[in-house]
Amino acid sequence: MNQGAKVTLRALAAMKSERQPISMLTAYDATFAGEIERAGVDCVLVGDSLGNVIQGRQSTVPVTLDDMVYHVGCVRRGLSRPLLLADLPFLRYADPAMAVESSRALMQAGAEMVKLEGAAVESVARLTELGVPVCGHLGLTPQSVHQLSGYRVQGRGEDGKRLLAEARALADAGCALLVLECVPTSLGSEVAAALEIPVIGIGAGAGVDGQVLVLHDALGIGSAHPPRFVRDFVAGTGSIQAGLRAFVAAVRAREFPSADESYGG
Ligand code: KIV
Repeated sequence: MNQGAKVTLRALAAMKSERQPISMLTAYDATFAGEIERAGVDCVLVGDSLGNVIQGRQSTVPVTLDDMVYHVGCVRRGLSRPLLLADLPFLRYADPAMAVESSRALMQAGAEMVKLEGAAVESVARLTELGVPVCGHLGLTPQSVHQLSGYRVQGRGEDGKRLLAEARALADAGCALLVLECVPTSLGSEVAAALEIPVIGIGAGAGVDGQVLVLHDALGIGSAHPPRFVRDFVAGTGSIQAGLRAFVAAVRAREFPSADESYGG
């Protein structure tokens, strides 16, 4: 891809077919968004992880649509080239009509794609029909932390078949991108091979089409006991900008995540 060109869905699809790994980081404010763009990151996600890393909460469940709209606006003002995604918050896409209303708010604040968790196939189909690009999110879906009894690896054994079927259903409904979180490496690779759309992993091994991390995790701040798939990219580099560039380089070289930073079946 032309390094200076605006990142579009078409560009991301071409990256998948040319086997060029896609890099994505979260951002919540204009200054970090600008630094992330300068480092050459392809996509920026205003994640509802802001509940954890900005608001100091235990989960993403309390994050509101107003919170998301505020942070999307902040990031929008610091960003031009990367594709800007925003999370639909907890229970704000429980039916297609609600998903449309919530997405309107995020897109009008500056998002170029919305992301939702789980197999919300009807909402994906309706949003796609109305011209709103949608990214799915399967595997460990943090908004379901209470149902999942904690932050744990998903899709092991037979459960992998269910997850693969859900991934196919989301793609068929119109998702243009899929985030896959905290699943065995073998399942990550299988899902990426089965789908035409790019699959971006976070704890899904190196066989997917790209990698995403929460910004604070990539900077090595905020968590005394980070999950296995987290790497501190600033350690040993001397500056935040050098750390962000190290993340992009490691993703492009498929050098991140290593086997030790991934999960077995
Ligand atoms: O909210 C978030 O930051 C996310 C990423 C972990 C993918 O959904």
